Amino acid sequence: MTKPRVLLIGATGRTGGSILNCLLEAGNFSVEVLIRPSSSTKPSVLALKDLNIKIHIAEISDSTHLAEILTGINTVISAIGPTAHNEQIPLANAAKKAGVKRFVPCGFTTVAPPGNIMWIRDHKEEIYQHIRKLHLPYTIIDVGIWYQVSFPTVPSGRTDYASILLPNVTILGDPNMKTAITDIRDIGTYVAEITADERTLNKFVFVYGELLSQEEVFGKVEELSGEKLERVLVPPELLLTLRDEARAFFQYDFSNMKEAIKVIGLEYAYSKFVRNDNCPDYAKYLGYLDARDLYPEFVPRTFEDFVRELLEGKAAQLFAGESYQW
Ligand SMILES: NC(=O)c1ccc[n+]([C@@H]2O[C@H](COP(=O)([O-])OP(=O)(O)OC[C@H]3O[C@@H](n4cnc5c(N)ncnc54)[C@H](OP(=O)(O)O)[C@@H]3O)[C@@H](O)[C@H]2O)c1
Repeated sequence: MTKPRVLLIGATGRTGGSILNCLLEAGNFSVEVLIRPSSSTKPSVLALKDLNIKIHIAEISDSTHLAEILTGINTVISAIGPTAHNEQIPLANAAKKAGVKRFVPCGFTTVAPPGNIMWIRDHKEEIYQHIRKLHLPYTIIDVGIWYQVSFPTVPSGRTDYASILLPNVTILGDPNMKTAITDIRDIGTYVAEITADERTLNKFVFVYGELLSQEEVFGKVEELSGEKLERVLVPPELLLTLRDEARAFFQYDFSNMKEAIKVIGLEYAYSKFVRNDNCPDYAKYLGYLDARDLYPEFVPRTFEDFVRELLEGKAAQLFAGESYQW
């Protein structure tokens, strides 16, 4: 039997890398990737040549080339970075024309409602609306927050190598509000299951590893590291003030990445630790399917195991050369 053909966009990225590994590991897909011409000689792209996959070098906006690439593709999965989200409009148009059977746009974020809670969410929702206007079959997958961006830095500095924020000792909003967090490596496993599953067609699906509060996260890192962590508390009212101040200067684009990260970070925190959006009950209320119910046999990695790897210096350096400060 021929395997369904999957075209992955963003295969060299953080989320896309997890998806690529797991699609290949699952073994039941014929995996193809699309790389933009300007990236074709990057080491990360050259490394893909060792895998048994078809690599298409094309601009997403090149509708003629795209039509050719998409012919016969069953599923398109986009893990395109946030700066290129709008490129998914021509991609979705071409997928519809080519008769693609499922389009997975770049979600892979927290659960939150649309409507000025999170700019990044609203940006993604514009793509979702476009897909629905096209009547293109879709699945939208959200994943909570990665373990890899959810840990505090420790006084000895031994977790700095893997942290996006330096230092990261701030507790934003309610310290005891639980939120969904996930090991990025499990995202791909879930995506491989979800995209082969008819039950998830034209649905939102929520994937997560654990439900933990910031206090529980800090406590776990203290317990396993033996180090006492500093905590800088930002209560809900102050968080809202900081968010509004940051929004006032924001251009609503990625021209200033530092400014964008600040607004996005504060909006995420408000949604997770004041509104309590990023949790399974609210996801169900919004109409998401819960991956825990769909795939009860899959046991996600624990946050504790991730912290052990982190403290041993074995966590992935997902943000090498890209750390930020509040
Ligand atoms: N849940 C969480 O905790 C969390 C954390 C971070 C991000 N996210 C979400 O995950 C999504 C993906 O982010 P990421 O950090 O995984 O992305 P990333 O590492 O920045 O990777 C982006 C990928 O997209 C490719 N790409 C970018 N522009 C392209 C274009 N015009 N044509 C073709 N390919 C293009 C990049 O390839 P080249 O640049 O090499 O061409 C790269 O492979 C984001 O939308 C974000 O919202 C979630």
